[in-house]
Amino acid sequence: MEQPIKLRVSQIEKSFPGVKALDKIDFSVKKGTVHALCGENGAGKSTLMKIINGIYQPDAGQIFIDEKPVQIQNPIQAKQLGISMIFQEMNYVPEMSVEENLFLGNLPVNRFGKVDWKTVRAKTLALLEEEGLPYSPEQKLKELTISDIQMLEIIKAISYKSDIIIMDEPTSAITQKEVDKLFEKIEVLKSRGVSIIYISHKLDEVFRIADEITVLRDGTVVASHPKEELDIEKVISMMVGRKLTNTYPKETLPIGQTILEVKNLQSPGVFHNISFRVRQGEIVGFAGLMGAGRTEVMRGLYGLDPVSGGEVYIKGKKVAIKSVKDSIQNGMIMLSEDRRRYGIVPMRSVKENATLASLKKIFYRGRLHVKVEKTIVEDLFSKMQVKTPSLETPIQSLSGGNQQKVLLARWMMLDPDILILDEPTRGIDVGAKYEIYKLMTQFATQGKAIIMVSSELPELIGMCDRIYVMCQGTITGELERKDFSQEAIMRFAVGAMEEKKYEAARA
Ligand SMILES: Nc1ncnc2c1ncn2[C@@H]1O[C@H](COP(=O)(O)OP(=O)(O)OP(=O)(O)O)[C@@H](O)[C@H]1O
Ligand SMILES: [Mg+2]
Repeated sequence: MEQPIKLRVSQIEKSFPGVKALDKIDFSVKKGTVHALCGENGAGKSTLMKIINGIYQPDAGQIFIDEKPVQIQNPIQAKQLGISMIFQEMNYVPEMSVEENLFLGNLPVNRFGKVDWKTVRAKTLALLEEEGLPYSPEQKLKELTISDIQMLEIIKAISYKSDIIIMDEPTSAITQKEVDKLFEKIEVLKSRGVSIIYISHKLDEVFRIADEITVLRDGTVVASHPKEELDIEKVISMMVGRKLTNTYPKETLPIGQTILEVKNLQSPGVFHNISFRVRQGEIVGFAGLMGAGRTEVMRGLYGLDPVSGGEVYIKGKKVAIKSVKDSIQNGMIMLSEDRRRYGIVPMRSVKENATLASLKKIFYRGRLHVKVEKTIVEDLFSKMQVKTPSLETPIQSLSGGNQQKVLLARWMMLDPDILILDEPTRGIDVGAKYEIYKLMTQFATQGKAIIMVSSELPELIGMCDRIYVMCQGTITGELERKDFSQEAIMRFAVGAMEEKKYEAARA
């Protein structure tokens, strides 16, 4: 039986200074179905969703719910109309507690007009219990991992009991297990007649969960189809307007001297016995399940978190890295996975965000060398295909993937010897991923050493020369390119038992 249309938008248009983000968009979602929205970075997906959620007003066009026209002035009204949204950019306040976050904008008030914290506490406890989440209502968000925070966002959106739930990149930071949990939830929601709009760059997920798929390109709808009529290849070519043949521009390069060597790095309760090396021209991957400790190791190595022991050698010289400054001085740069927390300065221009780390280069005798700055930035942006109306645009108004590219540009500009990339392609579309891989290859060709932490096995397998696998805070395996396979990596990633074998093999 064909489901009735729950939400429909017609001829929606939206411009921002310098860009037409949406042009005459027609799009509809049936009751009790999952409708996926795909498209490259900057295609207009989030903008369309923000219009449906009342954050932006369209310049033209109409929104219908149950085929009745509605005006959605703000998110509160959207909620009253039964719409809730999980945002791509998690704009959380680190000092906020779990319960405050869950009930933000929705705090129960008692008959004296005061916030009823007792109810908040009780409801939070019930939610956490129901979801099996191990944190307490008063815990501050800054103490949680991004995957925890993303999970909270998902739970929050679902707890509103909406008829339409928009999920904009809901799985960019959660574990495989949590993805499965989310998908189970989506199935339950569907059976209750809830409609879901699902945005993701992970096309395998899209094909697992979607009933229908709509592809956007440059602010227009390319097409909408039932999933059965499509496959991943087709969706990609609809997204980028051409066929992508070679997904991984990997070149086998001569491997040189060891540039970075880490011996026995440790941090009690976080990671232990971490020893590895990276050589000139080498791309070394770190695989593992979320929570395996990969990010923590890199943070420790980079001087972001203290370590309790271990030695670090750069180009054969023992170095003491106590801070990020020490790292940078030794030619080591890291792009972190949580760009909201450690990355962007939201209100500042894309140019400023890009040059933030390399101010020295663009200052000449104490003065900002505007021309040099502009040339360097323009050159890098065109290489990386950063889509921005101008260099002066505040970075927060760029699409998620384009923000990521600006951050990459920031570190590229420093021209480091060692580049640590933690989930560099998270939230980035296929075309831009390819550009980032190409840049990595370019870096390697220049004899630099690259570490790539990634949860996407295909990209590790596609791009790396060697892969270390971590499990429960330690390295459980090391694979050469010729031995790469998803199974081999997963075996090490799940099995702490394997650790002993590995230790024995090394001894
Ligand atoms: N608040 C804003 N101010 C100015 N421009 C904006 C704003 N929001 C979005 N844009 C622009 O509108 C276009 C569409 O952006 P949008 O965020 O909708 O893309 P997206 O499809 O969600 O991309 P991504 O996959 O990277 O998240 C981009 O060119 C972006 O720079
Ligand atoms: Mg987006």
